[in-house]
Amino acid sequence: MGLVPISDLLKEAEAGGYAVGAFNCNNMEIVQAIAAAARAERAPVIMQASQGAIKYAGIEYITAMANVAASMADVPVALHLDHGTSFEQVMRCIRSGFSSVMIDGSKHSLDDNIALTKQVMAAARPVGVSVEAELGKIGGTEDDIHVDDADAFFTDPDEAGRFVAETGVDALAVAIGTAHGRYKGEPKLDFARLEKIRSLVGIPIVLHGSSGVPGDAIREAIRLGVRKINIDTNIREAFVDCCRQVVTDNPEEIDPRKILGPAREAAVELISEKIRLFGSSGRV
Ligand code: G3H
Ligand code: 13P
Ligand code: ZN
Repeated sequence: MGLVPISDLLKEAEAGGYAVGAFNCNNMEIVQAIAAAARAERAPVIMQASQGAIKYAGIEYITAMANVAASMADVPVALHLDHGTSFEQVMRCIRSGFSSVMIDGSKHSLDDNIALTKQVMAAARPVGVSVEAELGKIGGTEDDIHVDDADAFFTDPDEAGRFVAETGVDALAVAIGTAHGRYKGEPKLDFARLEKIRSLVGIPIVLHGSSGVPGDAIREAIRLGVRKINIDTNIREAFVDCCRQVVTDNPEEIDPRKILGPAREAAVELISEKIRLFGSSGRV
């Protein structure tokens, strides 16, 4: 099977009432772990690469590894650009063979975000590439956003309605209380806001910063229309914790395969658990 656009996967998820896991990859072992977990769970899956991951691994390697993974998997696999910030970056990914892109214009004004997203839509749609956009401010490791700050940072439902009507994007990433990286306490999600947004946009919603969000909150978000769930930090933790453990236990070890192999297994385990939590296990 070749790489598929996320719109196909999200339509199926909509019909089935589940979410598709979108897992960040930076290297071969994590690409292999995502593919292995998806195959073991009989689940559709999204591999995604950030601009940082593309810079680290090289766009040719990322695309080639994802293509190999997709061709060997008998489950649908998408390759998605995560948080693309410019039209040029999006075009490089489309030319390289990504099946889907995110254009993150959330730092711009609403009008400028709409204009940038429309420019991406005009280039992506004719070649069958799906587009995810973002509205609102999703917290980062350095930000400490509380529900008190909601109106300043969270996605405004009416703006979301206008944004989707004007751009026609395939999926919308929203800010409802999640943040990238590790949480200091337990995240509190604004489900009422999510429900309102979903009723006004009617397209699949994307949840970023989903590592560390408790299972019940994930299930409630899916019930309210989240169809793509992004996980990076939990994979990093599983992978690097395992490397650290192997090196600590075997300080003389110099064979990278003896360190990265178990880390790849730890990532398969973590990704499989997430796939089951998202309800996408056994769907293909
Ligand atoms: O949303 C951000 C992802 O966790 C990617 O992080 O830019 O460090 O690759 P990165
Ligand atoms: P976490 O690293 O918090 O899981 O967020 C991942 C993400 O949103 C990638 O876009
Ligand atoms: Zn994100």
